[in-house]
Amino acid sequence: MNILGIETSCDETSASVVRNGTRILSNVVATQFEFHERYAGVVPEIASRRHSEVINYVIEEALEEAGTGFEGIDAVAVSSHPGLIGSLLVGLIAAKTIAASLAIPLIGINHIEAHLYSVHFDNDPVYPLIALIISGGHTLLLRSESIGGYEILGSTLDDAAGEAFDKVAKHLGLGYPGGPAIEETAKKGDENAFFFPIVTLAGDKSKNHPDRYNFSYSGLKNAVINQSERFKTPGARSTACDIAASFQKAATDVLLIKAKRAVKDLGIRRVAVAGGVANNSRVRRLFMNETEFESYFPARGLTQDNAAMVAGLAYHKHGLGERSDLDLQPRSRLENIVKGKRNTHGK
Ligand code: KG4
Ligand code: ZN
Repeated sequence: MNILGIETSCDETSASVVRNGTRILSNVVATQFEFHERYAGVVPEIASRRHSEVINYVIEEALEEAGTGFEGIDAVAVSSHPGLIGSLLVGLIAAKTIAASLAIPLIGINHIEAHLYSVHFDNDPVYPLIALIISGGHTLLLRSESIGGYEILGSTLDDAAGEAFDKVAKHLGLGYPGGPAIEETAKKGDENAFFFPIVTLAGDKSKNHPDRYNFSYSGLKNAVINQSERFKTPGARSTACDIAASFQKAATDVLLIKAKRAVKDLGIRRVAVAGGVANNSRVRRLFMNETEFESYFPARGLTQDNAAMVAGLAYHKHGLGERSDLDLQPRSRLENIVKGKRNTHGK
């Protein structure tokens, strides 16, 4: 079964054909970095305009590369939430048009579930598992019972992890997107030159603290941008490389701390890590070297927003009989599916 996936939730326009959930026949991703670079962040109006300019070409290229054409497609899947409404709409209209004109099923996909699914192309994950979705828009700690099913344990109270990388990179004049730039610059720096705060919000022993699994990146970001000298190790160097390395350490150490906490509390010794920040080599090293759990990462090309993860997940949804109507609407936020704990951060 060949599924055409479409992804336009933020600033990547992507289309992909995936066979039977795991075989990627094509995965075309058009980035918009150059259009958002001068603002050091995604401008929603520019993003949706750009999606509408390139979506047809991206879909055409994906079908051509896959060698299926429209005739060889059995269903069409599209990210319908969460995301920027104007951006999501472009993908939705394209997907609905294709579904209606070819008379094939339409499957609306939760973008977060799709990120989580991205680990399936290169691993054979065992469920249940703990999942960490870390990108420019999301920082989520989840418990996942099965493909496409999850419960939110925690999220960020303010900035997303990738957003903090982007803002610190802007401050250091390293360009956009900031994550790869910080990682590159950090290679030449000393990560112990500055002791920036590792913001855990709640101590390991505080079992019932509402922020036990939540994250906060704004304090760290402000420490780096406005008060870095206060956190300098006496006698250490203080170049942009040292600041980048020390920031990267604090920003990524907390990810492991929170994941380990969930592993221990829930007794689940498997962690899937996905989203743009999962590309970071320090994150990969930290999680791969951990002995208390096994970790699953997507291939590097599948960490960023892409349509292969959408089409792959849709294969399983289709198998479960899930279909969307042609009046499928975009939604900006995630549903609140947390059990018991506070979850008002739909980022
Ligand atoms: O998943 P993604 O492509 O899009 C969103 O859904 O946001 O994630 C993009 C984010 C950006 O903030 C970018 O700076 C960050 O992921 N990122 C990284 C790295 N590569 C991308 N952050 C840290 N290290 C990296 N190597
Ligand atoms: Zn994403």
